[in-house]
Amino acid sequence: MDPDGEVFVQQQSVVESQRGGDRHGAGALHGLRWIREVVFRHLVDPEEVAAIFVEPIQGEGGYIVPPPDFLPALAALAREFGIFLVVDEIQTGMGRTGRMFACEHVGVTPDILTLAKGIASGLPLGAMIADAARMTWAPGAHGNTFGGNPIACEAARATINLLEKGLMQNAEKVGQRMLRQLQAMQARHRLMGDVRGVGLMIGVELVRDRETKEPATVERNQVIQRCSEAGLLLLGCGQSVIRFAPPLTLKPAEADRGVTLFEEALAAVESERTPRR
Ligand SMILES: Cc1ncc(COP(=O)(O)O)c(C=O)c1O
Repeated sequence: MDPDGEVFVQQQSVVESQRGGDRHGAGALHGLRWIREVVFRHLVDPEEVAAIFVEPIQGEGGYIVPPPDFLPALAALAREFGIFLVVDEIQTGMGRTGRMFACEHVGVTPDILTLAKGIASGLPLGAMIADAARMTWAPGAHGNTFGGNPIACEAARATINLLEKGLMQNAEKVGQRMLRQLQAMQARHRLMGDVRGVGLMIGVELVRDRETKEPATVERNQVIQRCSEAGLLLLGCGQSVIRFAPPLTLKPAEADRGVTLFEEALAAVESERTPRR
């Protein structure tokens, strides 16, 4: 496959969806049709494609939540052509969305699943999960300088234990609370576009105009800066999205405080902005 192919399919989906009335549904499903009708017909023989890599919810791309039938349909497409489906859960995994893995929300079991970030609560660790048929390699087939670090592995065991004992449920519960509050804020703030997310993986898109969805990138950066000065650390993603990806230990009162600080920063940036004619 063209090395940029997967990225392009994702970008195409996003661009299409942002143009359409349907936020991400039409674009994501258009992306699937595009793989079948353009990529596999004109660009690459599916026989030559080893794997399709996909994030169940786009991270850096803008915290894009696809419609629930997108991943199952992509899995079916991969199966139809005998291609591995690799689900990258490096941002979405380890309880962040309220389930251990985001693909569980839509009943998809990938051939290969990749993990990192939250897996060891900040200690450096990554993991690739697949069934025994794919993971039984000859000795020496795979080497890694830092692989198997016992301290990082122990941190991962402790993390998994905490997730199973309540942090996953906390992510779901506090995430729903934050999502509701942020969605309610939309009516009060003209810079707010789409608000979306699952569990404690929430994206707030800032737009200059809700009709055209012109990205408010400068304003997004100003809001992040103001939040940082007020003690709330947020990170951008996509063109003009602010991501909320707090620790899964977040308490409801802390979430409320974060939402309040965000609203204050947003209101300050809105009031400084020259109104559009
Ligand atoms: C979704 C996703 N996949 C893969 C990576 C790369 O992960 P690593 O830095 O562990 O190699 C990142 C890093 O930000 C990511 O967000």
